[in-house]
Amino acid sequence: MGVRLAPYWHDGDRFVADEPLLADYDALVAELDERPVSYLHLRGRDPIGPDAAPDIPAFARYRSRFAGPLIVNNGFDRATGNAAVAAGVADAVSYARHYVANPDLVARFALDLRAVARRPGHVLRGRSRGVRRLPGEQLGHGAGLMARRAGPGGGGRRAAVVP
Ligand SMILES: Cc1cc2nc3c(=O)[nH]c(=O)nc-3n(C[C@H](O)[C@H](O)[C@H](O)COP(=O)(O)O)c2cc1C
Repeated sequence: MGVRLAPYWHDGDRFVADEPLLADYDALVAELDERPVSYLHLRGRDPIGPDAAPDIPAFARYRSRFAGPLIVNNGFDRATGNAAVAAGVADAVSYARHYVANPDLVARFALDLRAVARRPGHVLRGRSRGVRRLPGEQLGHGAGLMARRAGPGGGGRRAAVVP
């Protein structure tokens, strides 16, 4: 069983990630370290701006308390994700908004191609009809974007990488 925690999650003044709460998370993570959890997935502190780097020290607090596989997210791109893993901050990085904006994110990362910027308009809400519009990005060197119409009722497009 994997466990997902968001110790820094906050909601205005209604829910604040203050030190007493973080101390509770410290105890919880230390307890999880004694249990056979297959991984701990941590959402980090929100970066200070849309293009700001992830708050790496905020993860260190948990790396020192949990020896098992640690996955982190919140504000990473390819470079900062690779750097975090190389530095031992985490064992892996997960991507949410980048993946929603780039259905071919894995291929883009593998080919070191620029990922389309994360935008609220790329997040699907309600009934999914696939990715409506994939902003043009030329994939060269043996790779290309294939777009096709979604099935009946779906007016959008899906994209896949053709090797
Ligand atoms: C479409 C979408 C759905 C998400 N659903 C959940 C959810 O159900 N539970 C949760 O804890 N976080 C959810 N998240 C938050 C992500 O897991 C992640 O913590 C957050 O987007 C920051 O990571 P990122 O910078 O890679 O996007 C969701 C994010 C997106 C974009």
